[in-house]
Amino acid sequence: MSKDVSPYRPQPAEIEHEYRRADIDARAAKKAERQVALMFASSALFTVLFVVAFATIDATTVIGLPVFGDVYAFNVAIGVTMGLAIFFIGAGAIHWAKKLMPDVEVEEERHDFGSSAEEKAEIVETFKAGSADSGVMQRPLIRRTLLAALALFPVPLVVLLRDLGPGPGDERFRTMWSQGRRLLTDVSYQPIRPEDVPIGNLINAVPEGLHELEEEVKNLNERAKSVIIVVRIDPDEIVSQQGGTSEEPWDYNGILAYSKVCTHVGCPISLYEQRTHHLLCPCHQSTYDLADSGKVIFGPAARRMPQLGITIDQEGYLVARGDFAEPIGPSFWELS
Ligand code: FES
Repeated sequence: MSKDVSPYRPQPAEIEHEYRRADIDARAAKKAERQVALMFASSALFTVLFVVAFATIDATTVIGLPVFGDVYAFNVAIGVTMGLAIFFIGAGAIHWAKKLMPDVEVEEERHDFGSSAEEKAEIVETFKAGSADSGVMQRPLIRRTLLAALALFPVPLVVLLRDLGPGPGDERFRTMWSQGRRLLTDVSYQPIRPEDVPIGNLINAVPEGLHELEEEVKNLNERAKSVIIVVRIDPDEIVSQQGGTSEEPWDYNGILAYSKVCTHVGCPISLYEQRTHHLLCPCHQSTYDLADSGKVIFGPAARRMPQLGITIDQEGYLVARGDFAEPIGPSFWELS
């Protein structure tokens, strides 16, 4: 015999309705109304304080706080003011609903998922009645402070646009590569001789001086643009290149250098198939033919992989002939 172990729950009809104080006491209702309005007004005030803090506090000023230690005053100020602006809108709405909005028990039958036309019409009517019952039209104090809080709330989002900073200018069209700059192996930063690049191998390389620059500026911005791959192909199998002449080709005895950054959305690529000379991006499978100017033969990339012209210096190390002739990385609004 099966045993019903589900806990007993009182049915709506059996629940005795408990009136809130604000339901039966006009003074309590008025007090709750003032509390809600105060919260909405506080939200508006903290939004204004957010803007003032954003505009006036020096972003480099450090202050000491208990528990947290040294922190930037700017971050604390905009974080606290924005957080409180959001908090008071939410707290005001909850307090309004708990103290003043209609408080009724509703019994609802379970039906099929689809609603009939009558039910939909009833829902619309219920919604309209609920809007009226919320009392927003009868309580101008709440209405006005709520509107003020909501109207000011988007302001911080607009103000924050200032932090987007200046545009990149021609930085998108330049990298560290220049005439005579040596190719160094990535990570170990050793100059590369042609004999270090056997046919079929792929070497990740960076420009000479990149490591020192990164130590100084403490970011990887330049690396993201100038990292390259170096491969060697039988010269007879090279179909075309992106530049150079027969006297000064962009390869050196079959050694070719290409950007490592996919022209689709910028994934770094190192999957190279020696037999076909194809370079495959692991992100969305764009495939480039390195023996034929790095052209796209498959996938979503819209542009070929930029080639870096190379030669050797007097000491026999691989060096660049100059910067890339075309922008590296994903296309953007001025380059499709
Ligand atoms: S990033 Fe390379 S194919 Fe999408």
